[in-house]
Amino acid sequence: MSSHAPPKTTKPVTLRTLAQMKKDGQRITMLTGYDATFARLLDNAGIDMILVGDSLGMVVKGESNTLNVSIEQMAYHTAAVARGVNRAHVVGDMPFMSYQASPEDALKNAARLLQAGASSVKLEGGAQVAPTVARLVEAGIPVMGHIGLMPQSVHAMGGFVVQGKDAASRQRIMDDAVALQEAGAYAVVIEGVPTELATEITEALAIPTIGIGAGNGCDGQVLVLYDLLGLNPDFTPKFVKKYVDGAAIVGDAVRSYVDEVRRQVFPDDDHAFHAPKKAPQPSEPLTLVMGGAKVVGHH
Ligand code: KIV
Repeated sequence: MSSHAPPKTTKPVTLRTLAQMKKDGQRITMLTGYDATFARLLDNAGIDMILVGDSLGMVVKGESNTLNVSIEQMAYHTAAVARGVNRAHVVGDMPFMSYQASPEDALKNAARLLQAGASSVKLEGGAQVAPTVARLVEAGIPVMGHIGLMPQSVHAMGGFVVQGKDAASRQRIMDDAVALQEAGAYAVVIEGVPTELATEITEALAIPTIGIGAGNGCDGQVLVLYDLLGLNPDFTPKFVKKYVDGAAIVGDAVRSYVDEVRRQVFPDDDHAFHAPKKAPQPSEPLTLVMGGAKVVGHH
């Protein structure tokens, strides 16, 4: 039976929950997140999964690709996100060169993300990373795969371009999906492929597929949070839907602040502290309440 209603449970989303959602035909919702504040907002809004994506190299660090993200940076952001979450499943993305050189590297680095608070890790690649996936799963580390357009292979792909356009590459991507499932991956992200291919893969696999730029036939969807929020007015790819014009909202708020500070309208009396009417004696402590915290000082 399929349902479009958001899950009523506040129990944490586990691998079992996700497998059951695929069986029930209930769509899995995932967004990227990089800090505790947004993680709390996403979790409260009912998101099923938060991916601490290495896309942070682009949207947080301002780089042109994801190749310069370190495992230390991923662990730092994963810990921040995990602190903001009650229910959502937190996935830590394995950055470039944290798993490609050897399964031992992969084990050590995946462990860092789990210790930082992730409940599973994601890595890019298909058949060629299947032995690494199997090794991690054997060690008790749940792995999400990522096939199709793989941003860490941006140079090999000749840019961020749609994959699976010819018969040979469609077959390779299907084989990659099956190899990941056989290696024990619990789910797979399918990025930047034609809808028909992603749908075919979703029907062929027993594990959930999560699409991005892969049409509506996957078991779930993921987007980069800042794209959904419209924070970058210069980034408007076909697969992104901006649910809000975040750039305009932030811009307007900051322009108002700048204007009010310059005109000395802010801070007004409602946003200021005042000394008690009777001047305190030299020995009497001065108590202020700042941001919910009590600050006690002396004259
Ligand atoms: O790093 C990331 O944000 C991702 C998603 C785009 C799937 O891998």
